[in-house]
Amino acid sequence: MENTLVIIKPDAVGKKVVGDIIKAFDNFGLKLVALKMIKPSKETIEQFYLIHKGKVFFEPLVEFMSCGPIVVCVWQSENVVSKVRSFIGSTDSQKAEIGTIRNLFGTNNRKNAVHASDSIENAKNEIAFFFKNDEILDYNYDAWVSK
Ligand code: CMP
Repeated sequence: MENTLVIIKPDAVGKKVVGDIIKAFDNFGLKLVALKMIKPSKETIEQFYLIHKGKVFFEPLVEFMSCGPIVVCVWQSENVVSKVRSFIGSTDSQKAEIGTIRNLFGTNNRKNAVHASDSIENAKNEIAFFFKNDEILDYNYDAWVSK
């Protein structure tokens, strides 16, 4: 099984669509294994997006991502990294494919509702950035849902 990190960004929190986005991932058949809401500092966001440092959009990205609460979550399934990347759509919400998360809930390149890891290796690093090992919950629905 593979895990990936999804961040529900401040624009989505502000639009009160956190529940809709989580529901969409649930309905897509993924398993939620970790979740928390945080208000990250600029330093935290700079560190998280270090690969983009020096790009024209870096400073506004840091400002935006640290302007309000975000929801960080970990989703699990087979091939979850590539599945989720397709599911969320292109970076620019204006160009995101119809029905994708960014098309449904985002606004533009920056306010694009969600971030998701773009490779299995990055997913491991990004999950470790926000979660301790014991915060990733390994559980089996079948063991208790029907009780
Ligand atoms: P995300 O998937 O979180 O990864 C990096 C973020 O940088 C990206 O989503 C966008 O929000 C932002 N980004 C990437 N390219 C641009 C751009 N050309 N203009 C503004 N923001 C961008």
